[in-house]
Amino acid sequence: MSTISSSRTLHRLIYMSRITIPPIDLQAEVGEIIRTSIRRNREVAVTGLLLVHDGWFLQALEGPAEAVLTTYGRICDDPRHVDAKVLGAGPADARSFADWNMCARRVTAADDAILDTLEMRSKFEPQRLEPGSALRLLQAVRGIQERTQLRAMR
Ligand SMILES: Cc1cc2nc3c(=O)[nH]c(=O)nc-3n(C[C@H](O)[C@H](O)[C@H](O)COP(=O)(O)O)c2cc1C
Repeated sequence: MSTISSSRTLHRLIYMSRITIPPIDLQAEVGEIIRTSIRRNREVAVTGLLLVHDGWFLQALEGPAEAVLTTYGRICDDPRHVDAKVLGAGPADARSFADWNMCARRVTAADDAILDTLEMRSKFEPQRLEPGSALRLLQAVRGIQERTQLRAMR
């Protein structure tokens, strides 16, 4: 019974890592990561958000515990980043990125609203983020991106 209930529990894992991709290849490689992630995550009911900023990846993964851990294990073996560090992992009441099949947000100079949010933490040092702060940051990025997309559609 306990195995069944734990496999049904929603888990969230947030980690950060340092990007090893040469800057010139970043856009294409992130595009490739997203395409693979959408396909693979959909198969195992994992959702999340990937933030690409200033040499760092910050990613949330949500879904059934086993799927989240298997996915994270695969991600850790990926040479496109190093020094992966889990900022927080455990059961979650509800998905924060339910309709986000691993969208990436690369923060560019045009992303004023996101940059404002990041700059509130004077220097972006995700390895220092508390789990709750890391989640709030990713939720803020999601909210900003949703609003930006809505504005763009009008
Ligand atoms: C920062 C980063 C995030 C990634 N996120 C995911 C993800 O959410 N889901 C996924 O399936 N693969 C993700 N990948 C890609 C995996 O590392 C791996 O390349 C991919 O799953 C294919 O694995 P395979 O070659 O063993 O089939 C990510 C890679 C990086 C560098």
